Amino acid sequence: MPESEILIAASLLSADFTQLEQQVNEAVDGGSDWIHLDVMDGRFVPPITFGDGICRAVRKSTNQIIDTHLMIVEPDRQVDAFAEAGSDYLTVHYEACPHLHRVIQQIKAAGMKAGVSVNPATPVETLTNIIGDVDLILVMSVNPGWGAQKFIHHSVQKIKTLHEWKEKHGFHYLIEVDGGINTDTIKHVVEAGAEVLVAGTAVFKGNIQSNLLALRMAVKNG
Ligand code: DX5
Ligand code: ZN
Repeated sequence: MPESEILIAASLLSADFTQLEQQVNEAVDGGSDWIHLDVMDGRFVPPITFGDGICRAVRKSTNQIIDTHLMIVEPDRQVDAFAEAGSDYLTVHYEACPHLHRVIQQIKAAGMKAGVSVNPATPVETLTNIIGDVDLILVMSVNPGWGAQKFIHHSVQKIKTLHEWKEKHGFHYLIEVDGGINTDTIKHVVEAGAEVLVAGTAVFKGNIQSNLLALRMAVKNG
């Protein structure tokens, strides 16, 4: 995929919450494409982060695509709240959804794009009966729950497989990768076919503008 079409989703998990609006503005001005929100419930993953209220606040600060990653059990209970809060994409975890097909339809009926995410231990082959229905597939390249973890390399093969399926069958889903993305790991995932790169630490720790520039250069230089 041409490098100009690679999207960077800035994950607010690593932002300074005491100045959220300013951090969002800096990311947007620095060239992020999407804002990524990590919603954690203390059950699917141990930490608790935030809910639809933060999504609503971010919506007021920017027109960029809001990409919400639900790391929660029973995500069907949150779909309407995030639709009303202005999320554009809503991604649920395969591992949290016994009725995945129903949740995906519910998200679309609420007017959002629907995504499904797989943990590092979940093969993408488990998604074959849903890939025609989703707008985005999120490959976790760390175990969900925390920022600043080390990239798990076998995710690259999963991205390659998803890319091959797209080429072969014409599916429309975007391939997104989340966890441990930095100027070193970026080349492997882009080469494999990732289209949306989530980055938290690599965007928000230090100077946001120069971080985004460095990530963009890394995409360009392969
Ligand atoms: C982890 C989250 C990620 C997190 C990535 O569970 O889903 O979005 O912010 O953080 P980094 O980019 O620091 O690995
Ligand atoms: Zn995430």
